[in-house]
Amino acid sequence: MKKDKNRVYIFDTSLRDGEQSPGNSMNTEEKLILARQLEKLGVDIIEAGFPIASDGDFDAVRQIAREIKKSQVAGLARANKQDIDRAWQAIKHAAKPRIHTFISSSDIHLKYQLKKSREQVLKEAIAAVKLACSYTDNVEFSPMDATRSDKDYLVEMVSAVIDAGAATVNIPDTVGYTIPEEFGNLIAYLFAHVKNMGNTIISAHCHNDLGLAVANSLAAIRNGARQVECTINGIGERAGNTAMEEIVMALATRKDMYGLYTKIKTEQIYKSSRLLTQITGIPVQPNKAIVGANAFAHESGIHQDGLIKEKITYEIMTPQSVGISDTHIVLGKHSGRNAISHHLKKMGYTLNEEQINRVAAKVKGLADVKKDIYDEDLEAILYEEIYRGEDKYNLVYLNVVSGNVAIPTATMEMQVGKEVMRDAGFGNGPVDATFAAIRNITKTNYPLLKYAVNAITGGADAQGEVAVQLKYNEHSVVGRGAHPDVIVASAKAYINALNRLEFLKDSVKKVKVELS
Ligand code: KIV
Ligand code: ZN
Repeated sequence: MKKDKNRVYIFDTSLRDGEQSPGNSMNTEEKLILARQLEKLGVDIIEAGFPIASDGDFDAVRQIAREIKKSQVAGLARANKQDIDRAWQAIKHAAKPRIHTFISSSDIHLKYQLKKSREQVLKEAIAAVKLACSYTDNVEFSPMDATRSDKDYLVEMVSAVIDAGAATVNIPDTVGYTIPEEFGNLIAYLFAHVKNMGNTIISAHCHNDLGLAVANSLAAIRNGARQVECTINGIGERAGNTAMEEIVMALATRKDMYGLYTKIKTEQIYKSSRLLTQITGIPVQPNKAIVGANAFAHESGIHQDGLIKEKITYEIMTPQSVGISDTHIVLGKHSGRNAISHHLKKMGYTLNEEQINRVAAKVKGLADVKKDIYDEDLEAILYEEIYRGEDKYNLVYLNVVSGNVAIPTATMEMQVGKEVMRDAGFGNGPVDATFAAIRNITKTNYPLLKYAVNAITGGADAQGEVAVQLKYNEHSVVGRGAHPDVIVASAKAYINALNRLEFLKDSVKKVKVELS
């Protein structure tokens, strides 16, 4: 990689570190959809997965590698031959492949987890980088738990892997322990003591356990790091990773402080965030920086007064700069196929004839029960109609009787594979009865971990967006469904969770690897 000292490379790990976190698992089709959006967003490197973890992971990484042309595609591998060979097999057809290999460097990990000496681990790190370099010159190395490692051992390891051929060295704060001053100093220490740094890119990979991931990443950048590893909406292990939208907008908004730039197309940020939410069913908190529902909503009278007079009084960046448009009403009952197709194009979706027809039919159906159709409604339709893969379970009809004098009862028909099945369920309320009917038809009984309802847009006729989280052994899946009738949305969300669970069962990790 040719070095431009003012450019910060954005390495997105939503599909790897992000996907590892509870409820964020995605199937191959969903990973591909997100990877395409990440490419549109302009991320420099997409970490597509951990190919050794399962056949499903391998397949997803391979498909992403074959399709993505502009971004580099990275595959993760522990520092051993089996992992590195597998990672290479998955990414070798990429236009710009990268192998990312790692091993722990802290004494805590060496003593309690790896049970190996520093010398042994150093040898393995060097051998891993050399092997990876025999496949590609685009090799990244991470000393895991770097922030709790002995600094001089870290210097020794970083120097050794650079000698072995690593072009990028990533410094992970694996457990989210460090604080900005300390992390900045660590990066400065590496620059001062690693004698063969040359053109090596130093990268920051921060976890958010203390809510400091973005601040720590900025401190690293301030001290010379030129790659940041991050995820959309900050998803990731435990409290998550550095949020892509926050680090990118901090650099863009405070260019006066940093004088640096990224190649992210910031107008694609909101769309990327929404897409991830659609796929995983996990909404972002309303007050989340940059992409939360309230991020640009000014409530106080004094603020509103100032904004009317001059936006700069209370607005440090515009909603348009992250892709949030001012006017949201887009379509209604009388919108024709062309208007729909035109609007989808404006939103950045190019569909074929047959897909537009399917979306148009759904828009008409929705417009019968809802006056205005918003971008968010269209996205919900797109996700449910076009992007969702083949499902084992599908809802055919649902009829619910409820009220304060009846036992809530749901009668339901579902398509299960090729069969159509019908049954009923009773419950404490209409949602409970609906879920009972689904359990009776599918003969499943997974513990329900979470049930949440959100309104996609405003108004009494808003579509309800329901998220249902089901538990499967030590895993969980989140399903989502949208419909103006919240009971139907709930049924769709439960059925979606069952479909995702089917996928999860197929791809449950064959190699169990503890990572953060
Ligand atoms: O947090 C971590 O240490 C990781 C490494 C694999 C880079 O995710
Ligand atoms: Zn991590």
